[in-house]
Amino acid sequence: MARLLADDDATAALGAELAATLQPGDLVVLEGDLGAGKTALARAIIRSLTGDQRMDVPSPTFALVQPYDTPKGPVLHADLYRLGDPREVDELGLLDNPDAIVLVEWAERSPEIVAAATLTVALSIPPGGDGRLVTLTR
Ligand SMILES: Nc1ncnc2c1ncn2[C@@H]1O[C@H](COP(=O)(O)OP(=O)(O)OP(=O)(O)O)[C@@H](O)[C@H]1O
Ligand SMILES: [Mg+2]
Repeated sequence: MARLLADDDATAALGAELAATLQPGDLVVLEGDLGAGKTALARAIIRSLTGDQRMDVPSPTFALVQPYDTPKGPVLHADLYRLGDPREVDELGLLDNPDAIVLVEWAERSPEIVAAATLTVALSIPPGGDGRLVTLTR
């Protein structure tokens, strides 16, 4: 069932909630159109995991993958939007460390990554445009 995130603060709160449940080895697929809030949610998760609410968490659109060190171990934040070919995903090493927590935007570009998901978070902009709808699938 979809839950409404009324504003940015609600997205940040969900990020903190998810961060508390994530464990090493989890792979979170963040689904949703451009601007649906995938990076905003990943940023909130990463800030919560690092304990630094002001940490700079850029969109990994160009870097493709951005690593972070956290008390729960390494976190990888990836955005596959600009991936040329699904085979290139191996070079990003998203599945190399079984103890990493991996957050992936535009995972649809790689069936291998989609298949490895332990949690799928689908974000969408509701008709009217206020807030965001979110559905979690484990
Ligand atoms: N619950 C919410 N209600 C309204 N706006 C929100 C909410 N959560 C996030 N936003 C806003 O939605 C936008 C989401 O942008 P973001 O970069 O996270 O999208 P994205 O899904 O990562 O897009 P892309 O596919 O380009 O990577 C931001 O401007 C953010 O402030
Ligand atoms: Mg993004």
